[in-house]
Parts: sequence; C-alpha cells; structure tokens
Amino acid sequence: MSDYDVIVIGGGPGGYVCAIRCAQLGLKTACVEGRETLGGTCLNVGCIPSKALLHASHMYHEATHNFTKMGLMGKSPSVDFSKMIEYKDNVIEQNTKGIEFLFKKNKIDWIKGWGSIAGEGQVKVGGDIHNAKSIVIASGSEPSSLPGVEVDEKTVVSSTGALALSKVPNSLVVIGAGVIGLEMGSVYARLGSEVTVVEFLDHITPGMDKELGKTLQRSLKKQGLKFVMGAAVQSVDTSKGKAKVNYKLRKNDKEASLDADVVLLATGRKPFTDGLGFEALGGKISPRGQIETDAHWRTSVSGIYAIGDVIDGPMLAHKAEDEGMAVADVIAGNHGHVNYGVIPGVIYTSPEVANVGLTEEQLKEAGVDYKVGKFSFMGNGRAKAVFQGEGFVKLLADAKTDKILGCHLIGPAAGELIHEICVAMEFGASAQDIALTCHAHPTFSEAVREAALACGDGAIHA
Ligand code: FAD
Ligand code: NAI
Repeated sequence: MSDYDVIVIGGGPGGYVCAIRCAQLGLKTACVEGRETLGGTCLNVGCIPSKALLHASHMYHEATHNFTKMGLMGKSPSVDFSKMIEYKDNVIEQNTKGIEFLFKKNKIDWIKGWGSIAGEGQVKVGGDIHNAKSIVIASGSEPSSLPGVEVDEKTVVSSTGALALSKVPNSLVVIGAGVIGLEMGSVYARLGSEVTVVEFLDHITPGMDKELGKTLQRSLKKQGLKFVMGAAVQSVDTSKGKAKVNYKLRKNDKEASLDADVVLLATGRKPFTDGLGFEALGGKISPRGQIETDAHWRTSVSGIYAIGDVIDGPMLAHKAEDEGMAVADVIAGNHGHVNYGVIPGVIYTSPEVANVGLTEEQLKEAGVDYKVGKFSFMGNGRAKAVFQGEGFVKLLADAKTDKILGCHLIGPAAGELIHEICVAMEFGASAQDIALTCHAHPTFSEAVREAALACGDGAIHA
C-alpha cells in the first residue's frame, strides 16, 4: 500500500506547481521541502526578492532623476536600506505563505525536512519512510563556485547574500555579466554603490541576441555601471571586511585588481542533488550534474521523474512550472507537453530586456533565410511620454513564409510585451498576423506591431 500516489521532492516553482496539478488531477500528493518556507529559490532567494529590490531601487531612481522633469518638486527621498530589506522580506513572506495556503486548499501534505530516495517508491525524511507510486525530483539548483573565490555571504556574496546585505556598499564588484550580475548590479548602482562588473567574455548576457546585449550594456554604462570585459577572475582576497578581486585580461594576460567593499559572485548556477540518493539507485546524472530525463521527464530509474533547474534547459522559474504541470499530466496518464521553442527570457533591468525563440546569430548559423523587422521605442509616443524611448523591438520572421521565428525586445515593459509574441508563436502566426491586429493607442505594444509592419511594407512611425 502506498501512502501517496506522488511525492514531490522540492517545493520550488517546479515542485509546488507539480504538487498542485497532481492534486487537481485527483492524485494523493505530498511535497517534501527542507527549507523553513515553501517556494524554493524563486520565492525565497531568487525571482521575487530580487524583483522587490529592483522595484524599490527603480522607484528611488525615478524620484531622484525624473520627478522634477515632470514638475514634481520637493525634497528627494533618501534610502533607509534596512526598511527596504524589511519590505523585501515582507513580500517573500506573503508569497511563501500563499503557497502554504494553496497546499492546504488542494489537500497536499507538506512533509517538512530533507528527503532522500531510500528505494523504489520510498522517500526517507528524518527517521520516517513515506511510500509513493511515483516520485518527482524538483530539487533545483545552487550557485556555482569559482576556484580562488570563497563565498562568506558577507564580504564575498552569492545572490542570496546580495539580497540581504546589512548596508548599501560603497563599492561592489560583480563577477559575471549574466542575469544575476546585471539585475543585482543595477539595484546597488541605483542605491549609490560604485559598481564594476568583471566578465570573462567580450560581451554581456551570453546566449542573448548580441544587438540587445550591446544596447543594454550601453544603457547600463550610462547609469554608472563600469565593465571590465574579457577578464578571467583568478582569486578574491579578503581582509578586515574588504576585498580585492584579482583578474587577468584574456587578450594580453595582463594582471590587475579591483578593491571592493562587497564582491558578488554570479557566474552561474548548478543542479542541486546533494543527499538525494539518486545516484546510489543507479540514476543517471550528466557530466554537468543534471539529472538525465527522457522527453516525458522520466529518469533512468523506474517511477522517478525530474523537472526544473535540476534537469537540462534554461534555469527559469516558468520553465520549471511548465514542466511541473506537464509531468503531473504524464503521471496521471494524460499527455504532458512543454514547447521548449517558446520559453521567454526576461532581464528585469531598466530598460527591461525580453526574448523568445531564435536569435539572429542562431538563424545565421542554421542557414535560415530570415527577415528582420525593427522598431525603435523613440517612435512610440507612450514610451517618450514616460522617458523610456530607449530600446527597440526586433522581430525575426522566415523570409519566405513570414512565420515568426523569434523576438528580441529592449525597452519599457519588455517582459510583458514579449507574451504577445509567445502566443503568436504558439499559434504558428506570421509577422503579418501581428501587423494586421489592431493595437490600442497609446501603448508600448504598438512598437511590437510596428516591428511586425517593418517585416512587411514598412513601419508607419519609423
Ligand atoms: P528551486 O526553486 O531551486 O527549488 C528547489 C527546492 O527544493 C528548494 O527549496 C530546496 O530547498 C528543495 N530541496 C532540494 N533538495 C531537497 C531534498 N533532498 N529534500 C527536500 N527539499 C529539497 N527565474 C525566473 O524565471 N525569473 C526570475 O526573475 C528569476 N530571478 C532569479 C533571481 C535570482 C537571484 C536567482 C538565484 C534565481 C532567479 N531565477 C529566476 C531562477 C529561478 O529561481 C529558478 O529557475 C527556479 O527557482 C527553479 O525552480 P525549481 O523548482 O527547479 O528549483
Ligand atoms: P549566467 O549564466 O546568466 O551568467 C554568468 C556570467 O558569468 C556569464 O556571462 C559568464 O560568461 C560569466 N562568467 C563565468 N565565469 C566567469 C569568470 N571566471 N570570470 C568572469 N565572468 C565569468 O548566470 P547567473 O547570472 O549567475 O544566473 C544563474 C541563473 O539564474 C541563470 O541561468 C538565469 O537563468 C537564472 N536567473 C534568471 C533571472 C531572470 O530570469 N530574470 C534572474 C536571475 C537569475
């Protein structure tokens, strides 16, 4: 007799969404989570707290830079950082408690503690063994380490420490110009830190459409962020609460260093499988540490599935959630589906960046005959009215069929606008389908339509 139809290990966006969908499909479900609160990396130390600090720091920036331009006069606000952290913690609490409520509503048991797989259909938590017909591993990821750099979460921090500093540092060196580095770098630059980003490659945000990366970097430089590109960090020395970041320039092997109050190590994340006991059962793990699965999220061990950051694919909350819902369907005997070709990515900097589908570089490499429809936000009335004319929409479509192949956006509300293209791509739409759809005026969305028009007879306001 099984205690449960499904036990999910991990209560992050992959795991909690999977548990809710399993329960909705009539499966008796439990979720094992070792943290004090549900919601995983995303709600506790990732997406949600970082967006809270991005919002607060953006508001501060608007108040100190743009208010007087609109005739809003008066004393500028000052930063009470401990209050800002309190606001962020409150946002986390509301969100994690929300998941607890959803578990109760859906009659999901939260088994508190760290789980390991003891045998076929058996999950051990503390001294107890819980039985299940199916087990879903959604154990997520943790920050990658870098040789020579010891994270103490005070002077040298991971993203977790960067979300909980005791004060705004005078100087911050960020190692890695990826998503975490640029989002957290933006937060502290807006709050007054001198921020220097040290990146191994010669461009920021690897994997993203290069034109977008260049525009974002230019904009971040204007906001005061400094960049050292093509630099391999060798080590970080700490002494009396200060740090020295030692790096070597890749083009000429020249060695240099940067002093900082705080160093943020943001060179990627790696799958988390510690203590799971999966390998002891003969489970296959890739050389990159990811649990290997087939197209239906089945691992090499019968009855065990895996989803989210712990498997292949982009380490994004919505990707984990989609897999969570799909694997629940598979377990319930339905057809579970994730369209990996249409997973949007968003960087919550200012301007915001969003993308979906293939980049121009990928299309070139694949030898696809494509066309580009581009429209600058400078031609968008709404964007100019709110000082956000910087950036553009770049739509990529098949040169012969006009089918949309990708979209790369930098500008106001990019993270919202991208979803028009996601839906269009799900329906196999052409650029003309967007161009012929009436868009309300004055909205940022008109820029998306103009980019679609630019794929055909031409944009109107260009
Ligand atoms: P996780 O969220 O990592 O959850 C796994 C959970 O499993 C954890 O709570 C862990 O405690 C638990 N666990 C692990 N092993 C066990 C065990 N043996 N027993 C019990 N419990 C266990 N993504 C976005 O899409 N948008 C964003 O804006 C965004 N911002 C981010 C900002 C930061 C600073 C960081 C670090 C990440 C961000 N991400 C963002 C990435 C996002 O957080 C992850 O992709 C997402 O959380 C992955 O979900 P998951 O369920 O696979 O794993
Ligand atoms: P990342 O993979 O986005 O970027 C890491 C950067 O570090 C790269 O630019 C890489 O070239 C650079 N790097 C690697 N080694 C280096 C070295 N030795 N010296 C200097 N630079 C080096 O990883 P990041 O920013 O840590 O984020 C981890 C994950 O979290 C990402 O995969 C992302 O998907 C997710 N995330 C998503 C967010 C979002 O969706 N808005 C926000 C934050 C994180």
